Amino acid sequence: MPGVEIENRHSTIGNGIWYCSEMKTIDLRSDTVTLPTPAMREAIYRAELGDDVFGEDPTAKRLEEMAAERMGKEAALLVVSGTMANLVCVLSHCRRGEEVILGDRSHTFLYEAGGMSAVGGIHPHTLANQPDGTMRLEDIEAAIRGDNVHFPRTRLICLENTHNRCDGSALTPEYTQTVAELARERGLRVHLDGARIFNGAVALGLDVTVLTRDVDSVSFCLSKGLSAPVGSLICGSSEFIAEARRNRKVLGGGMRQCGIIAAAGITALEQMVDRLAEDHENARHLAEGIARIPGLSIALERVQTNIIYFTLAGGRLNAGTLVAKLADRGIKILQVSPARMRAVTHYGITAEDIELTLAALTQVMSE
Ligand SMILES: Cc1ncc(COP(=O)(O)O)c(C=O)c1O
Repeated sequence: MPGVEIENRHSTIGNGIWYCSEMKTIDLRSDTVTLPTPAMREAIYRAELGDDVFGEDPTAKRLEEMAAERMGKEAALLVVSGTMANLVCVLSHCRRGEEVILGDRSHTFLYEAGGMSAVGGIHPHTLANQPDGTMRLEDIEAAIRGDNVHFPRTRLICLENTHNRCDGSALTPEYTQTVAELARERGLRVHLDGARIFNGAVALGLDVTVLTRDVDSVSFCLSKGLSAPVGSLICGSSEFIAEARRNRKVLGGGMRQCGIIAAAGITALEQMVDRLAEDHENARHLAEGIARIPGLSIALERVQTNIIYFTLAGGRLNAGTLVAKLADRGIKILQVSPARMRAVTHYGITAEDIELTLAALTQVMSE
């Protein structure tokens, strides 16, 4: 019975947590470390497949239909990663020499290898991200170029929800709507990097379509909090998705029997969205514990979803040493600057893991 083998293998490996003979690792570096659930492995095993470049993979089609419906858009397209999703969207909205307005702490600007300029000849125009992940409306307005031969043409505004580098903040629907109205008035489009859009929806207690209804395109990831092994989806109008399909092909992202990936994605959408609330609870609990540890500092009011950032408030330690000492105790977090660290909760991280992490942090800080 394949199902039984799958269960057994899973229980020895764990969900995002690797067990070795003596020490359990609590990996809080990112929600991308999650491993597929037993139900996903089963769905992958049973997936009906075809050649998706010929439009013949029934499982990929089903996932794309589900994703479009969940996001309230006409159509959707499966791509390999969040990075490819954002790049395909920018390429599908803009031509060479055109300009994109985006936050200076956005994932697309900081961590996607400059793809829009490297591949598309598209010019990023960064504006300061506020601590809550927004860009000021007046800054956006001032950044939109007039019609002048000296300037690149502004074409697109990119938002990020939830905002990774801004404490996992959820953008409100009102903010997104205001930006979209400005964009429409000025003949621009809006793309939403919604890698963790379901975390935003769960945190705000809203249907996800409320967060996506005003944007022209949205991308979201299956392989973060939703725990699928691979994949992101792009959603938008049918016309936009047809263009995106062409650009995915340009990037070599046409995948043949991608129902293998899509099968896990379907399970993720069906089973893994509502449980994100548990990750948010664990993150809050961790943050509140960190706030009580002398020598550590955290902006509790910013903790909204599954991502927390905290800093060393002076003292002897630097973040690198603290991260290494935690790693010696089987706990992994991410150093993001000499004094700043990130921890992300996800499927497989339990309330008990949070207690163990707080105990280890307390011990390291008092040494
Ligand atoms: C907000 C955001 N957008 C996009 C990405 C890129 O996703 P991927 O790692 O699948 O390329 C990430 C990855 O962490 C992210 O946090």
